[in-house]
Amino acid sequence: MDDLKAKYLGQIAEAGDESALEAIRVAAVGKKGEVALKMRELGKMTPEERQVTGPALNALKDEINSALAAKKSALADAALDERLRTEWLDVTLPTRSRRQGSIHPISQATEELTAIFAELGFSVAEGPRIEDDWYNFDALNIPGHHPARAEMDTFYMHRAEGDDRPPHVLRTHTSPVQIRSMEKQGAPIRVICPGGVYRADYDQTHTPMFHQVEGLAIDKDISMANLKWVLEEFVKAFFEVDDVELRFRASHFPFTEPSAEVDIRCSWDNGQLKIGEGDDWMEILGSGMVHPKVIAAGGIDPEVYQGFAFGIGIDRLAMLKYGIPDLRAFFDSDLRWLRHYGFAALDMPNLHGGLSR
Ligand code: PHE
Repeated sequence: MDDLKAKYLGQIAEAGDESALEAIRVAAVGKKGEVALKMRELGKMTPEERQVTGPALNALKDEINSALAAKKSALADAALDERLRTEWLDVTLPTRSRRQGSIHPISQATEELTAIFAELGFSVAEGPRIEDDWYNFDALNIPGHHPARAEMDTFYMHRAEGDDRPPHVLRTHTSPVQIRSMEKQGAPIRVICPGGVYRADYDQTHTPMFHQVEGLAIDKDISMANLKWVLEEFVKAFFEVDDVELRFRASHFPFTEPSAEVDIRCSWDNGQLKIGEGDDWMEILGSGMVHPKVIAAGGIDPEVYQGFAFGIGIDRLAMLKYGIPDLRAFFDSDLRWLRHYGFAALDMPNLHGGLSR
C-alpha cells in the first residue's frame, strides 16, 4: 500500500495537465483501478486482516483523490498566471493621433437634450421603429378613417398575400412610445423617447427619415403651465441663451387636448440660418395635454391622472443650433460635411461643462 501511495502521489506531482491527471485518476482510483483491485482482495482475507486493510485502503483512496483535486486547482492557477503574464495591455499607451471620425450633429443634439431632460427628472424610454398600427394610430386616438393618417404620409410594410390584418408601419412619430411607456411603467411617469421616425416627404427642411424626441409627464396635478415651463427651460438650456423667443400657437392633434405648436424665431440670410433674430419662425414641436382616451389606452385611469406630452424635431433643433441650412445633408454621409459639422467623440455633453463646447 505504501508503494501504491508513493507511486501515485509521485505521478500526480509530475502531471503537467488535466488529461494526464485524468489518466492517473482512472488507473489509481477508477472503477477498475489498482485501489479497486486491492479492495476486491478483501473478500479473501480473514476478518482481522480485513479490519485493518479495509480502512487503510479507503484512506489511501481519499488521499489520492484529494491530491488529484489539489493538483487540478494548482494547474488552473498556473494557467491563469500564464495568461495574465502573456495577455496584458499597456493602458497608458497614447491613443491614435489621427482623428478617425466624428459625432454626427443629430447624435450630439440627442445627447445634449437627454442631459437637459435628465436634469428635469425625465428618464429615457425607447420603442421599435417598425410599429404596430395600433400603437402608431388607434391608441393615440387616430381611428382608421381619420384624416391624420393620410396627412402623415405613412410608409406601410407589406403583409403576406391573404393576410388582412392591418399592416405594420414605419412609425410616423415617437408618440407610440407614450403608450408603450405607460403600459410598462404606469403612473406617475416622466419620460423622453428619442428616436428615428419616417414620413414620405422631401425638401430643404423635410427628409423621409428624421428624428423626434417625445416627452411625457403624467401625474395627479399637471397643467399646461408645467408644459410651458418645461419647454421654455429646455429651449433656453439647449440653445445656451437666457432668452429665446417662442411662439405658442393653438393647434390640433388627435392625442392632445388642448394642443399647441411651438415655433422659434429665426432668420434665413443668404442661406445662413440663425436663431433668435429675424422675421421668420420655424416650427420645432407639437405639444398639449394628453387626451383622456390616450391615457386610458396606456392602461392608466384618466379620472385620476392627467399630463402633458410633446414631440420635438431633433434634426431641426440641430439645424438651428449649429446653423446648418439644409436638412438633406444630414443624411448624405459626406465626409467633408461630417468633418465640418461633427463633434469630437470624447466631448460628452453635460450641463455643468457647457453643452456643446
Ligand atoms: N406626434 C406629433 C407629431 O409628430 C407631435 C406631438 C407629440 C404633438 C406629442 C403633441 C404631443 O407631429
